[in-house]
Amino acid sequence: MLTAHRRWQFKVLSLLLGVIVLSSAGCSSDDTPDPPVPNDSFTPQIPEGFPQIDYPEDNAFTTERFELGKRLFFEPALSIDSTISCGTCHEPQLAFADDLPVTPGVDGRIGRRNAPSLFNVAYHPYFMREGGVPTLEQQVLVPIQEHSEMAFNIVQAGERMAMDPEYMQMSRDAYDRDMDYFVITRALSNFQRTLLSGNSLYDKHERTGTGLNSDELAGRDLFFSTRTNCSECHSGFNFTNYEFKNNGLTDVYKDVGRFILTGDSSDLAMFKTPSLRNVELTAPYMHDGSFESLEQVINHYNSGGSSHHQKSPLVKPLGLSDREQEQLLAFLKRLTDQDAITNENYKP
Ligand code: HEC
Ligand code: HEC
Repeated sequence: MLTAHRRWQFKVLSLLLGVIVLSSAGCSSDDTPDPPVPNDSFTPQIPEGFPQIDYPEDNAFTTERFELGKRLFFEPALSIDSTISCGTCHEPQLAFADDLPVTPGVDGRIGRRNAPSLFNVAYHPYFMREGGVPTLEQQVLVPIQEHSEMAFNIVQAGERMAMDPEYMQMSRDAYDRDMDYFVITRALSNFQRTLLSGNSLYDKHERTGTGLNSDELAGRDLFFSTRTNCSECHSGFNFTNYEFKNNGLTDVYKDVGRFILTGDSSDLAMFKTPSLRNVELTAPYMHDGSFESLEQVINHYNSGGSSHHQKSPLVKPLGLSDREQEQLLAFLKRLTDQDAITNENYKP
């Protein structure tokens, strides 16, 4: 049962995140350093048809920032006992998701949600399944401070990293300042904004008119049809409109979804619609990882889901034949982007 106290804690945490991240930006504005000169050993390639990425003013892309962010992403010393890195739960070969329903953090502590893919997070308008965190920079504080994830403290994490001369040098090269919590939040976000995926076989087919077979094309047409409504919610270049919806996963939700943020009963059991890019690699599925396979997901939508009072009217029995369900599955598997998964620039 969610208490008012829990909600209050959540709001205080969000507030704190805002203050710490924003205030640190404030102190550096006195003597704003010239941004470091980028070198062109790596530049993120924006996939064809994807919009430009909005970089915050104080965190434009540079190779130095990217390299530092990547190193920090795979750095276990960002957790209290130096055992868990961001990459523990967001693995490059699994589209920066993980293959467990819930990934244990330090001391094997179990959180409550399934780790999502981080591809294309540069475009998300807000983060987490209730949408309570407005920027990637602020999102960094959540896993570092979360008891069931890295259980550390962002300021102390900065102090620990600053003791390493190599990190100190990288920080000066990237942000023209000593390593601290400001640099950690910026560099991790700089790296994450480069995680782009838009080169699946489906994309290649859309560009060239070849690549998908007839079953995959039939699945694509089903996906974009009013028979299934899939693309009403999983729409646009990233296969999500980022809206908060209830897809009838179950009758009883242990996780109250967006209600934890707003306390508004119309937000009960509403979750941010996820992207379906690379969905083949991000099993298990849904906020709680309760579906093991894409077959189960398709079966769920075909049955029309639960009778939860918040369920979207778009989710209803579909009456797809076995063949049609297989075609839908075949299409979803063509959203896998081998170029992104095997991109060496993203690996430690
Ligand atoms: C113990 C596992 C774990 C660790 C460690 C972890 N994450 Fe996550 N991450 C998750 C889970 C679970 C969620 C989903 C939370 C939610 O939806 O409320 C998530 C969500 C996110 C999101 C939001 C994605 C979205 O779609 O809104 C970002 C960005 C992210 N993590 C980045 C990071 C970074 C950066 C680090 C390291 C500083 C990190 N994570 C460490 C498990 C982890
Ligand atoms: C009313 C909006 C809506 C419609 C229509 C819809 N979805 Fe979803 N979908 C969601 C939401 C919201 C979630 C996340 C639910 C959660 O986290 O518990 C989701 C989750 C998923 C997931 C799991 C993704 C992951 O990484 O966990 C898949 C796969 C999926 N949907 C495929 C489909 C397909 C295929 C269709 C059409 C048959 C469809 N969806 C129709 C809103 C929708």
